[in-house]
Amino acid sequence: MTGAIDIDQACAKAVAVRTGAQVFETLDQGLASGTFDAVLVLLPHHLHEDATIAAFNAGQHVFLEKPMAPTVDACSRILDAASRAGRVFMVGENAQYWPEITLAQQLLNEGAIGDVVTVRAWHCLPPMSEFLEGNAPWRLSRAHAGGGVAIDAGSHWLRPLRRWLGELVEVVAVTGRPYPAMEGESMVRALCRFETDVVASFDVVLPPGPGFAPVPVFQITGTTGEIVIELGGRVRVYDGSDPGGVVAGHGSYLQSFVDQFAAFEAAVLDGVQPAVSPEYSVGELRGALAMYRSAESRMWEPVW
Ligand SMILES: NC(=O)c1ccc[n+]([C@@H]2O[C@H](COP(=O)([O-])OP(=O)(O)OC[C@H]3O[C@@H](n4cnc5c(N)ncnc54)[C@H](O)[C@@H]3O)[C@@H](O)[C@H]2O)c1
Repeated sequence: MTGAIDIDQACAKAVAVRTGAQVFETLDQGLASGTFDAVLVLLPHHLHEDATIAAFNAGQHVFLEKPMAPTVDACSRILDAASRAGRVFMVGENAQYWPEITLAQQLLNEGAIGDVVTVRAWHCLPPMSEFLEGNAPWRLSRAHAGGGVAIDAGSHWLRPLRRWLGELVEVVAVTGRPYPAMEGESMVRALCRFETDVVASFDVVLPPGPGFAPVPVFQITGTTGEIVIELGGRVRVYDGSDPGGVVAGHGSYLQSFVDQFAAFEAAVLDGVQPAVSPEYSVGELRGALAMYRSAESRMWEPVW
């Protein structure tokens, strides 16, 4: 049996129609029903802690969407509850499963562009109504989201950088608010130094208007060539053999969710450990918080 729980009952019912789930009005009612073994927490950031700890206290396995919580202290409390419960705990970061990201990793491992010199990460998409409009656009509230674009969409760009370049060590950043309705930053431009001593640029921009250019989302520059991940997921390798680059593969945003939830299912049903630990997932939050500190101090800030 599955349950659909949402404070907005129309949302819960819509899920129930598509899945056959039983509708509950609150998480407590759902947990008391004893009709499921695992909870997917897909809530605004400020609600992650209470819902996740309640689920662990009820003996549930938990999949929690990124970021684990808006503060490092809240993450520690969640990790403590997970450890006490002894159940599966996976924090969602679908960038871990983007086929284009794993393909780039494979190409790097094969030495397709030599040693990495630097990486450019770029995320700029116009405002999307499903994320920024509606009755309670929590993303516009700094208190609810924990910040702006760096803590939210930015995590999908930081995770690949961490996978390719090792742990993020320090950052220097500037932030701005080109999208005035968002209390937190709607622009962050940062330099990120990794444990490998590679420095990457990290830009996330939420412009107020609809126009944007389809520039690559990642450009990895190596000693012998470049790997480019285009908006839309096509991966090209520029190794000098073809000025237009050689297409190495195509990504799939939606496939990343399929693979992510398959990993959670395998963890619950078969005891297979997900690719990274929940503790690792705190790294993107720490990176974003260090960027906020740097924007204030105008200095390089340590991430850990
Ligand atoms: N991996 C990705 O690509 C991706 C994309 C979008 C969102 N996210 C993450 O998913 C999470 C949710 O984001 P979203 O965009 O789906 O938000 P959303 O606002 O679209 O959905 C949140 C839902 O929670 C419900 N809700 C609010 N308060 C509640 C309460 N007290 N009890 C029960 N239900 C409540 C709302 O009614 C709404 O249906 C966030 O952590 C976000 O960062 C990840």
